[in-house]
Amino acid sequence: MGLAIFTTPSELGHYLQSHRSQSLGFVPTMGALHVGHRSLIDRARRENTLAIVSIFVNPLQFGPNEDLDRYPRQLEIDRAMCETAGVDVLFLPTSESMGTKDLLTQVIPPPLMMSGLCGKTRPGHFQGVATIVTKLLNIIKPDRAYFGEKDAQQLAIIRKIVTDLNISVDVVGCPTLRADSGLAHSSRNQYLSSTGKAQAAVIYRSLKQAQALVASGETRASVILAAVMTELATVTEFQLEYLELVDPQTLQSIETIAKKALVAIAGRIENTRLIDNIIIVFDD
Ligand code: PAF
Repeated sequence: MGLAIFTTPSELGHYLQSHRSQSLGFVPTMGALHVGHRSLIDRARRENTLAIVSIFVNPLQFGPNEDLDRYPRQLEIDRAMCETAGVDVLFLPTSESMGTKDLLTQVIPPPLMMSGLCGKTRPGHFQGVATIVTKLLNIIKPDRAYFGEKDAQQLAIIRKIVTDLNISVDVVGCPTLRADSGLAHSSRNQYLSSTGKAQAAVIYRSLKQAQALVASGETRASVILAAVMTELATVTEFQLEYLELVDPQTLQSIETIAKKALVAIAGRIENTRLIDNIIIVFDD
């Protein structure tokens, strides 16, 4: 079976009606597909009989001063990648079919989960993500939906929405894929020079410091965060936006790690905004 392409919810819905006996694995994306997306797609194929990828650069999740116009668009390359990866269905909804910003019903995740981390500098972002992801899940009704752990706040918020709105889907978080330097794969890495990429490796290096400290028995957030800061400061070109240690589910700050903690970083190199995180498990 080749790659079937649909551009409206009604066309796709019609097709899916006749494939309801299949198990559906869904990978929502904004395109500019890289090896990280490929790992989500491979997993969706392994765990389901039909794999669906959507590409939609969602205007609702970009703020007025963000990179919506500049966001990488490479539809032909993405389509070829989906074909090679054995995707069954590619959904490329038109903006009209997804609804106009000011006339669209919005899904509002819990404010406490949106106020920290990326939510501080990206007001409205997670509401935009939540609205579009809810629409996509309702259109496709997949058995499983796959999201990268790199976007840890997004993943926690989507899990919460799915629980709270009783959406019948299994949300699968997939590990972050990294370059040899440790730099997490991201569509935005395309904006970086090779020097910038080398400098950006400090982010993961510093997250590993946190992991090593916890492995040695340290549980105080203040001590762990200070060590991460010291490592980050070794690359003066890195402009830190935030460094937080939070509960991975609720995203609320933790002072002492009891079991699991999410250490998350955002910052800029060469004016490109990068995020990364690590989940640390404390075994006493
Ligand atoms: O992670 C992304 O690429 C986007 O936020 C998503 C989940 C496709 C929603 O637009």
